[in-house]
Amino acid sequence: MIHSDVSLENTLALHSLASHVVDIGSVGDAQDAIEFGQANDFELRCLGEGSNVILMPRVSGLICRVTQADVCILSSDEDTVTIAVGAGKNWHELVQETLDQNWFGLENLSLIPGSVGAAPVQNIGAYGVEIAEHLVSVDVVRADGALHKMSAADCEFGYRDSFFKRYGRANSGPLLILGVTLRLSKRPAVNLSYGDLRKAFGLGNMKRSVLPSPQQVADAVVTIRRGKLPDPAEYPNAGSFFKNPVLDPKTADRLHELGSKPYPFNDEFKVSAAQLIDLSGWKGRRQGDVGCWPQQPLVLINYGQATAQNVLDFANDIQRSVFEKFQVELELEPSVLS
Ligand code: EPU
Repeated sequence: MIHSDVSLENTLALHSLASHVVDIGSVGDAQDAIEFGQANDFELRCLGEGSNVILMPRVSGLICRVTQADVCILSSDEDTVTIAVGAGKNWHELVQETLDQNWFGLENLSLIPGSVGAAPVQNIGAYGVEIAEHLVSVDVVRADGALHKMSAADCEFGYRDSFFKRYGRANSGPLLILGVTLRLSKRPAVNLSYGDLRKAFGLGNMKRSVLPSPQQVADAVVTIRRGKLPDPAEYPNAGSFFKNPVLDPKTADRLHELGSKPYPFNDEFKVSAAQLIDLSGWKGRRQGDVGCWPQQPLVLINYGQATAQNVLDFANDIQRSVFEKFQVELELEPSVLS
């Protein structure tokens, strides 16, 4: 059933009304939605829990919300388990449930807001792990209504990037994500590569003989995130608002001289956008109801009645300041939906 003029939930607490919304619980529902979209010339877009989007006051087309949230085992052996998860499942709930079953691998991705269906779009990542490492395939319904399994290679994952992000920018035909297949380990092998996480366990650069359990890693990640990142329920936000720029060695050297600390990333260097924003004097700053979070300037907050335009103007001012100081362009991380 298609609903009209629906207020869209989003973690930035922006007022946004969608012209048409449909809830999708099966492949058949997805096919019906595509047919309806084609008949009425509506563009179709998937929306998860609204944790990584900037919603304009009016959103046109047909917004599809996938409700299917089952978790089922596809195969299992001594070392691994392969599970299919509906796109509508809450991500953090899934992480907890997998740990309860002693299925490991997602612990570093604890407390990331949003739904399972949104996870591959931006290749969610935190504390040294990305979903790409555990993803086997993504079930999508294409514009012609056919159900298709995209392999991890088809998804073309990169840092906060995927085929889905690029597809959304380049195509008008829909590609609805209905679920993902993940392979997890039955043997605990924790990833403590991220500095903050090593610090939490008093590891520094040293190896310790007794490593924390995956559940302990999950708990530490939750503690670190709670300390640094604002709870959207209290301070509406969309997580990191900009991507960390990936730069060539020459530019990285230049930024190093200006006070930033680039670190190697593949053949290039990644620079902390938070640090560039901080060094540009924006940490804790506020214009009207939009502000930069004092503990993590990469996060923008709606302190009250900010509009999407207020948030985008504020982000634009940050981008301009950072560019003036460092000649580096900060790219927006959330998608804008209008
Ligand atoms: N920093 C500052 N000033 C600050 C805060 C941080 O200079 O006030 C610098 C420090 O150098 C610090 C560095 O930023 O060491 C890194 O901070 P953090 O560990 O929070 O990582 P991040 O690069 O800012 C990324 C992700 C987060 C993810 C964390 C942990 C992106 C765009 N963001 O943030 O993801 O949780 O790493 O892995 O890659 C999200 O995507 O919404 C998100 C929160």
